[in-house]
Amino acid sequence: MCGIVGGVGKGNYHDFLLNGLSSLDYRGYDSAGVTIVNEGGIKTYKVVGTVEDLIKKAPEELNGFVGIGHTRWATHGTPTLNNAHPIVSMHKEFVIVHNGVIENFLSLRTKLLEEGYAFKGETDTEIIANYLEYSYHHSDGVLTAIKKLILRLRGSYALAIIHAKEPDKLYFAKKNSPLIIGEGQGMNYLASDAVPLLSYTDKFIDIDDLQYGFLTSSDIKIFYKNDEVPKHYITKNVELLKKELNGYESYMLKEIEETPAIISRLCTNYFDGTEFKFSKSLIRSLKSADTIIFLSCGTSYHASLEGVRYMRYLGKASEAYVASEWAYEPVIFGKKPLFILISQSGETADLIKCQKVINDYGFINISVTNTPGSSIDRESTHSLLLNAGLEVSVASTKAFSAQVALLAILVGAIENRFNVIDHLRTLVDALEKITAQKENIDLIAQKLLNYNLLFFIGRGNDLIAAKEACLKMKEITYIHSEAFPGGEMKHGPIALIDHKTALIAFNCESMTNAAIRNNAKEVETRKGSIFIVSSEAVYRGGDVFSLPYVKPYIKVIPAVYFSQYLAYFVAKHKGVNIDKPRNLAKSVTVE
Ligand code: G6P
Repeated sequence: MCGIVGGVGKGNYHDFLLNGLSSLDYRGYDSAGVTIVNEGGIKTYKVVGTVEDLIKKAPEELNGFVGIGHTRWATHGTPTLNNAHPIVSMHKEFVIVHNGVIENFLSLRTKLLEEGYAFKGETDTEIIANYLEYSYHHSDGVLTAIKKLILRLRGSYALAIIHAKEPDKLYFAKKNSPLIIGEGQGMNYLASDAVPLLSYTDKFIDIDDLQYGFLTSSDIKIFYKNDEVPKHYITKNVELLKKELNGYESYMLKEIEETPAIISRLCTNYFDGTEFKFSKSLIRSLKSADTIIFLSCGTSYHASLEGVRYMRYLGKASEAYVASEWAYEPVIFGKKPLFILISQSGETADLIKCQKVINDYGFINISVTNTPGSSIDRESTHSLLLNAGLEVSVASTKAFSAQVALLAILVGAIENRFNVIDHLRTLVDALEKITAQKENIDLIAQKLLNYNLLFFIGRGNDLIAAKEACLKMKEITYIHSEAFPGGEMKHGPIALIDHKTALIAFNCESMTNAAIRNNAKEVETRKGSIFIVSSEAVYRGGDVFSLPYVKPYIKVIPAVYFSQYLAYFVAKHKGVNIDKPRNLAKSVTVE
């Protein structure tokens, strides 16, 4: 994964590089580094750890002509200083930062070893740096060397490249990893996303796959194959990209509590009071499709599971697949399939891979993302945006609720049923009621600290809530958590229950109320502890929480909202880093 930043033009790069990397550390935080070139030569500062650690180590002034920076999520090679970027080529002619994974790094390494190259670390990036240097020695210039590099590399890369002899230039190349350029005044910039550039420019250029080129302080040159390509400027909604804590102690808590406002905004964005605001061709495509296939990963996959229920309600055949599975064995059924790709970031590599397959077949696909201009958003037939604002916390929260709410509005639009908007407004009130009771959720969380195994169960909609609640809990608290359908417990998991096991049972459906309570009883009988989260309709004394009433088809949202708080409070009491859980990254741009 990883995040990259770079700039060219005379100046102090301290704030640009370090603040920029801070805003990109959702892409990984195993190690970080910056390189600056000035009259004194090339200077690199690296740490194993986070950007905050790098800020402590880097000098207060980073004056130079060109600078690059990197925050890493380790793929090839453990997080060590040698493996941290920027990476210098063997003869010190090139310094590069890289986001992506090179699949054919072994064969390139072998070739380079034969050519007398030696390696200091284990990264695929060092192979790129050395291969570039090797190609440069057999080319008439850096651009030709980059062109040769592009022909040889398999996999994904967004590269920022400094050539030691040309400190007035910052070279770049891109394939399957995001890269955006910002045109400044007296300086030009690049980064993995627009956020690091917002204080410096409002003129952006998205770089497409296989494009390469260079920036100087006053010029931007972009090439594809042998030709220069024209620049297409785009703007970004600065409001939605703001990264501020606004007095909150963590982004996760802030983002959970933004959810009601986001759902209200979705209602106004997609319904103007008299009609829904989806494109006619999108609605036509959905109506005429006989099969709806959802593809996604992580939390977005759980939103897809709700989407499947909606589409089946509309009478369509529908399934949801985890993108990393579908990418290798595409399941396509029905006479007129339509794909819905759900992704908060719009950059998840496994889903991008699926989208390529879908587009190669020529099938219609609708993207539901929170990131306008992201790879998945750009390559989809129809784009739907959550407009939920930047989600910084690695554990996705507000995006889930926004995804489900947007799918619900979409169903309303297909059926021309306006009352979905009223239902969502009731939902907003319900979420605010839950927030008002968060101290009670905190008390439940404190009890969960006593257990080393957490089971989450539910049936129907509640099963989706159980799965997402379990994912949140394991992501940020590191307590071993498992989720499964209530009825499956007796088919295996029950063997694990002892006095250190707690069961969190979501029980909001009248139809399955008795069955879930029976499942809970079975756990209690085996000395496990039970925490039943029910709804007003089925509440009984002894249940730990009663979720306020909302229409059944959207009740996964309050249940998940509750569980986001629950995981948050458990993590808080454990004293772990809530926003940056170990080993994870927000945007998973590798397979
Ligand atoms: C990572 C994040 C999760 C997210 C998943 C899918 O694992 O940590 O929070 O749900 O990726 O990401 P996407 O951006 O495609 O929704």
